[in-house]
Amino acid sequence: MTWREYHESTKHSGESLRRSSHVLDWVNMPDPFRHYEGVPVLDLPADPPVPQTPALEVLNGVSSAIPAEDSSTFLSQLLYYSAAISASKRVASTGFQYALRVNPSSGNLHPTEFHFHTRGLKEWPDGLYHYRPSAHMAEQRALGDLGMKSTDSSAPIVFLLTSIAWREAWKYGERAYRYCLHDIGHAWQALALAARAMGCESFAAGHFLDDDVARLWRLHEDEWPMLLVEIRRNAGSSIPVREASTCETVWYGGHANQLSTETIAYPRIEAIHAATKISNLACGAISLAEPTPTGSGEIKLPPAASSRRDREDTHACPATAFGEVVRKRRSALDFLGGTQTISLTQLSTILAVTTQPFVADFAAARFVDLYLYALRIDGLGPGVYRFWPERAELERLRSGDQRVAAAGLSLGQDLAGNACVTFSMIGDLERAARAHGDRGYRYVHFEAGAIGHRLYLAAEALGLGATGIGAFYDEQVHSYLDLAPEQGQVVYHFAIGFPVPDSRLQAYSRWWGF
Ligand SMILES: Cc1cc2nc3c(=O)[nH]c(=O)nc-3n(C[C@H](O)[C@H](O)[C@H](O)COP(=O)(O)O)c2cc1C
Repeated sequence: MTWREYHESTKHSGESLRRSSHVLDWVNMPDPFRHYEGVPVLDLPADPPVPQTPALEVLNGVSSAIPAEDSSTFLSQLLYYSAAISASKRVASTGFQYALRVNPSSGNLHPTEFHFHTRGLKEWPDGLYHYRPSAHMAEQRALGDLGMKSTDSSAPIVFLLTSIAWREAWKYGERAYRYCLHDIGHAWQALALAARAMGCESFAAGHFLDDDVARLWRLHEDEWPMLLVEIRRNAGSSIPVREASTCETVWYGGHANQLSTETIAYPRIEAIHAATKISNLACGAISLAEPTPTGSGEIKLPPAASSRRDREDTHACPATAFGEVVRKRRSALDFLGGTQTISLTQLSTILAVTTQPFVADFAAARFVDLYLYALRIDGLGPGVYRFWPERAELERLRSGDQRVAAAGLSLGQDLAGNACVTFSMIGDLERAARAHGDRGYRYVHFEAGAIGHRLYLAAEALGLGATGIGAFYDEQVHSYLDLAPEQGQVVYHFAIGFPVPDSRLQAYSRWWGF
């Protein structure tokens, strides 16, 4: 199977939804928490310090070091603000309670696992760890220097983000691989931005030998390696380090918990994953993609509010500190609709954070363009616009009320029409494939997820709400936007507006018992 066949065969249409006989088997729902049992477990201190740099500054590239007392506090902080549980919801009728995390996930199913390797961290044993979000602890799977040839780096911390596709396929069937890739993009940005807020740099690598990495990190067979993220020191870095040890590796490995009684096979997911694997690096470094096309529009956006002073001027930012914003971030179940609008400056601020560079081996050229359905924006007529990032301009493609279209194209989800602005992310899958072969399919979706994550945080920082939307009628979006095949295909939708409060939401308490 090629990426094209997979993508075609997982498009939503009226017909595909009618044909689908998929029902949710609640008894067989996969456990959203992976544990590697029977290994030493290291505590990560509770309530690590809040990264205080304003979220919009972090999103716009500002890095500020906060000295960490010790390595366990440093790691605790990094994970608490990128991957930990941050809230829970209780269903009143059943009393059922479930956890929500800092990083969002389609259907809250969380296919992404965080593994990390440390080398030369002060008062922290070199080794390989798996993060256990249900208890905010690190499972020590190996001790010593594992000679991480997969990263070719001296970074003191290297994360490996993996996907357990079955968790997602349980609900979404064959289309689930797309969502696993989006979720990796979200998790990557969650980690990269938390690192930046703590004064560190990060570098993501998507170009690696899949089977070698899986072997080296001794992943359970249901976990697929997707992205390596190195956390590096910079001039003002807060990572507490020492000389790396050279002692022999001791493996504990651990026994991966079984996630459900039965695992249903999804042949198309197996096939697309196989197609996007790299099995030899004979050609060496990752290829360069053709440059991102540029263009212009008739509407110049006002300057974005990115500094403390700007925000005071616009009164636009009630929750500022990065740490508060990431832990408060939630997906809105719906938006208020009505007549309340966001300002053009708020829209400009939201769009500006998507233009900041991504630091990754596959991100020298961008593959994703933003088209927006302007629904309730003061100073911008309702319509459909294309965003041209280099010039911060909008090109008007359609005029008139888009509420029905935005919701209808998003599989009839009201929230996309009740938002103030809804996005179609259009991925240039062909250009990505010309540079990276089938592997490019992963990179386009990582980028879309990463953009989505920045949108979530920018919205939250501005006192708004947001929701990623993985469900849309693919071909109808292309027709509505009048896209020629060479302009790309829709890969993700996203909505921002005034969220309807969710009475089931409970702020995070100290109870970790998930
Ligand atoms: C890739 C992706 C696709 C999503 N698709 C939808 C969607 O189509 N409709 C929806 O209401 N929410 C969607 N969501 C939001 C998730 O349901 C939400 O992230 C999850 O329930 C966890 O809640 P939280 O974001 O508040 O932590 C999506 C989220 C992601 C990351």
